[in-house]
Amino acid sequence: MIYIKTEEEIELVRKASVLVSRTLGEVAKWIKPGVTTQKLDTIAREFILDNGGKPACLGYHGFPGTLCIEVNETVVHGFPSQYTLREGDIIGTDCVVELNGYNGDSCYTFAVGEIDEKVYRFLDITRQSLYKGIEAARAGKRIGDIGNAVQSFCEHNGYSVVREMCGHGIGKSMHEDPEVPNYGRRGIGPLLKPGMCICIEPMINMGSKNIVFERDGWQTRTKDRKPSAHYEHTILITDDRPEILTTFEYIEEALGGRKF
Ligand code: MF3
Ligand code: CO
Repeated sequence: MIYIKTEEEIELVRKASVLVSRTLGEVAKWIKPGVTTQKLDTIAREFILDNGGKPACLGYHGFPGTLCIEVNETVVHGFPSQYTLREGDIIGTDCVVELNGYNGDSCYTFAVGEIDEKVYRFLDITRQSLYKGIEAARAGKRIGDIGNAVQSFCEHNGYSVVREMCGHGIGKSMHEDPEVPNYGRRGIGPLLKPGMCICIEPMINMGSKNIVFERDGWQTRTKDRKPSAHYEHTILITDDRPEILTTFEYIEEALGGRKF
């Protein structure tokens, strides 16, 4: 069942989205060699709590972190740990914040220090693919138009799209209908209508699309152990261009002139 949100509900998703964006801005300040992913998780959790929010992933079906930590070949749902970031790593931090009963969801993949030029291009293309998906998210179009835009752009650039996980609707629950795949055919799937809040989150692999689930049932990595990248915004479908409810501006501020 796909909810069309009222103005009041949209305002609540908007506020939660701002808080999750600010949280990732705090996390961004700490991304450097020598920092543990556990430290990043603590920064995020304390910031959310200090601002009246709830870390929505923490305890969700037993998930052990505020952030999903995605280092190098980790695709999604990695656990915070004592792993210490190293120069040349990439790290995705995926976060959901609940505020006043509504959720906002965002993810950014960062570079730790200097990274390989080829990986830099890969991050750049993956981030751009998020905006290709967002541009396609217009009232009157369908879910498949979003996935098609992401997939064709990424594959054209030589990368592959993870199939096992998708974007999703968002509101009172972090995961609502519809599913928002990052692949698919134009004109297929649920119709997009003004008032729908959805998360678009390309999970893109530098090598093959195949992934492996760890025995814990959560953590996933690429089968070929090549890097995977992930960016996510929460957006609102309007009768015009989509409104992006989360923002990377806090991250960009923290990164100074750097892109990742
Ligand atoms: N941002 C992730 C998603 O889009 C959050 C889920 S992580 C979980 O699905 F730990 F809460 F499952
Ligand atoms: Co999400």
